[in-house]
Amino acid sequence: MKELKKMDERVQLYFEEYGKGTPVVFIHGFPLDHTIWYPLLPFLQGKARLILPDLRGHGKSPATKGGYDMGALADDIKDMLDGLNIRQTVLVGHSMGGYVSLAFARCYPERLLGLALVASHAAADTPERRQGRLQTAGEVERRGVKSLARTMPEKLTAHPELIEPLRRLILQANPAGVAGALRGMADREDMTRRLSEINVPAVIIAGAQDSLIPLEKSKEMERLLPRGWLVEVPGAGHLPMMEAPEMVAEALQRLFEKI
Ligand code: MLT
Repeated sequence: MKELKKMDERVQLYFEEYGKGTPVVFIHGFPLDHTIWYPLLPFLQGKARLILPDLRGHGKSPATKGGYDMGALADDIKDMLDGLNIRQTVLVGHSMGGYVSLAFARCYPERLLGLALVASHAAADTPERRQGRLQTAGEVERRGVKSLARTMPEKLTAHPELIEPLRRLILQANPAGVAGALRGMADREDMTRRLSEINVPAVIIAGAQDSLIPLEKSKEMERLLPRGWLVEVPGAGHLPMMEAPEMVAEALQRLFEKI
């Protein structure tokens, strides 16, 4: 199996922190930022130390040029934890944030207390998906994020009240960050066979109507994670933390109780 690539250029991530207790780092998906987790705060504040970073090239964190290897994004999270003197943490990863969490679990297993994969999966891209991502990365570099903002929100959710806020969020995205993430995702490795090595409590939270991640992938992860269980969220698509925050918060609390 090939080694995870690293990027030399270090960046300091922007993050927000709420509350005290067991550290829980929430890693957003593509091409979003930490604000997607805000709907969970009223339910989880006071239950743990909630840390909400923006990944490199996203939200308020600086962008670098080139592809963002998932292992390097995991290193950014590790550097943030080192800066906070946090040795061990729970990770909650949404979609691409889940890919970063799986890379973290592989590189720093001793630092992981528990894992939540929200609308995410462990497989690599198919050749077609990879080609499509590289093409989109080139388009974003040439023309910016407008066409992504036009087409992506409806793929993320069927909740009409979320569509325009999501479009605005994507319009603010940094083209270098979007392209870097697309190139990094295109090159990520398949983590499916490594799931059996993740020996911490792990909840898989899946939107029953997620058009991007088939439920079968979540069921497969449940089978392969030694201490994994699946929570299916009815009425939710690719953004269960925004579409059904109470149910997602409940699932996360159950995870916290097992740590
Ligand atoms: C995400 O939400 O992070 C993306 O849909 C992940 C992906 O494109 O694989």
